[in-house]
Amino acid sequence: MKGVVGKASMSKKRVAIIGAGPSGMAQLRAFESAEKKGQEIPELVCFEKQDDWGGQWNYSWRTGTDHYGEPVHSSMYRNLWSNGPKEILEFAEYTFDEHFGKPISSYPPREVLWDYINGRAEQSDVKKYVKFAHAVRWVDFDEGTKLFTVRVENLRTGETTSDTYDNVIVAAGHFNFPNIPHFEGIETFPGQVMHAHEFRGAETLADKDILLIGASYSAEDIGSQAYKMGARSITYSYRTKPMGHGWPEEMEELPLVERFEGSTAHFKNGEKRDFDAVILCTGYKHHYPFLPSSLALESPNNIYPDTLYRGVVSEKNNQLFWLGSQDQWLTFNMFDAQAWYARDVILGRIELPTAEEQRAHMDQWLERFNAMEDEFDQIDFQCDYVKDLIEQTDYPMFDLDEVAKIQRQWLQSKKDDIMNFRDATYTSVITGTKAAEHHTPWMLELDDSLERYLSEPDEDEARQVFRGQIREGQAR
Ligand SMILES: Cc1cc2nc3c(=O)[nH]c(=O)nc-3n(C[C@H](O)[C@H](O)[C@H](O)COP(=O)(O)OP(=O)(O)OC[C@H]3O[C@@H](n4cnc5c(N)ncnc54)[C@H](O)[C@@H]3O)c2cc1C
Ligand SMILES: NC(=O)c1ccc[n+]([C@@H]2O[C@H](COP(=O)([O-])OP(=O)(O)OC[C@H]3O[C@@H](n4cnc5c(N)ncnc54)[C@H](OP(=O)(O)O)[C@@H]3O)[C@@H](O)[C@H]2O)c1
Repeated sequence: MKGVVGKASMSKKRVAIIGAGPSGMAQLRAFESAEKKGQEIPELVCFEKQDDWGGQWNYSWRTGTDHYGEPVHSSMYRNLWSNGPKEILEFAEYTFDEHFGKPISSYPPREVLWDYINGRAEQSDVKKYVKFAHAVRWVDFDEGTKLFTVRVENLRTGETTSDTYDNVIVAAGHFNFPNIPHFEGIETFPGQVMHAHEFRGAETLADKDILLIGASYSAEDIGSQAYKMGARSITYSYRTKPMGHGWPEEMEELPLVERFEGSTAHFKNGEKRDFDAVILCTGYKHHYPFLPSSLALESPNNIYPDTLYRGVVSEKNNQLFWLGSQDQWLTFNMFDAQAWYARDVILGRIELPTAEEQRAHMDQWLERFNAMEDEFDQIDFQCDYVKDLIEQTDYPMFDLDEVAKIQRQWLQSKKDDIMNFRDATYTSVITGTKAAEHHTPWMLELDDSLERYLSEPDEDEARQVFRGQIREGQAR
């Protein structure tokens, strides 16, 4: 293997960012924003193992390994639509109105949200910092020089290089290494068994009986997709508690599967059912194969992973930062708040307190975290967390109390009508713009493309049938 070693410049700090998903892109934008205001910024290098940026939003038809033989990163599927209103993730300094030039609906499909993130990054001229098709293989810290060595492979040439950096920012995501539990007898199941990470579309599930194991967002959304595409029945199997929505009659929730016998699943309550396909919606693991345990983050998927001061600075090494490592009620604007904070620590605008003070601060938040009882507490927690971060930097503050309110309304709308909640519209807390109603109800919309989404067809019969303005039999 070829190897090249570089050195950190004596004059300028050097910062390595791992990953150019929404978090890594936020970090680049944060530095660029400071530079535009006349601040000298460090030398930046962002390593992205895929050929394009956008992280999870950069859809791939592939499963398993990609064309470089790397594990496929994205868990998104062809017909994925935002599962929360866009009004809760809007960038405070690049609005949907600015990007699209007209009000759009509250729940856009994947390609539309990719376009939005891409638009801000393109406008910011930060692509020059990204080395695409470069996988970070290993990161080490030298206690003597106080520098990180980052070893990277150029996936196009196979060349590996090592370079030193003052700071490393991990923006590698944590919904890409699937958690795959074993169920007794599952090896005898004759149909398709896959994890949600490999799910790419529900069309093949039409007329099939589907079992989804797990009771969170992947289960809920893949089940809804399967219903939309005509699955005969959808059964959810929960470990802790059912989702409890008012499901259509083709759907039901049962306790955990105890064992499989061929195509039959036996559930803990003694019931059994036959299935054509099983999808494990059992979540993901924090797993960072490029970090030694002395630097890696070990945590379940939760909204306050321990050992991160202000959810960003590694307690293990204050020169190491983490973006987006929390479970996410807020996404793009939370990554911004974190990126702005990491930037200001690196630029010396924010001085970190002592190790003891950092620990005391984390313990205080952990106390509140441990006392949380429900999803509403989690929403308030994360909104307060982001508010607290923004107060430390020049990122534009926005009304996070109103965002929390929208999130509560969103949860309520799912309780009211789980299959149609994506037709609700909300008002931007940044611009005051009321979202447009999408031209076609989500349940009837089978084209997820940007082109179709932004088109303005005449109101069709499907929309009228849906609203109850004409009965189905009347439609041509
Ligand atoms: C199925 C699914 C659906 C979702 N739907 C929504 C939604 O509707 N709305 C919402 O707001 N959020 C949604 N999310 C949450 C999503 O995690 C965030 O929106 C966002 O993508 C997180 O950004 P990130 O940059 O932190 O991580 P990611 O998007 O995961 O990006 C990480 C990047 O790091 C790169 N990388 C990883 N390891 C290396 C390495 N060793 N070397 C170089 N590069 C590396 C990856 O290739 C990737 O580009 C969804 C997540 C999943 C899994
Ligand atoms: N846009 C969209 O529509 C969309 C779609 C899918 C996912 N997402 C996003 O993707 C992220 C990940 O969501 P996720 O649902 O994949 O993961 P998750 O929220 O972490 O949930 C994991 C689920 O798996 C269950 N589970 C874990 N181990 C299990 C085991 N051994 N046996 C049975 N059940 C087990 C958990 O049950 P317990 O409750 O018992 O722990 C939980 O219900 C979220 O940020 C979500 O918003 C978005």
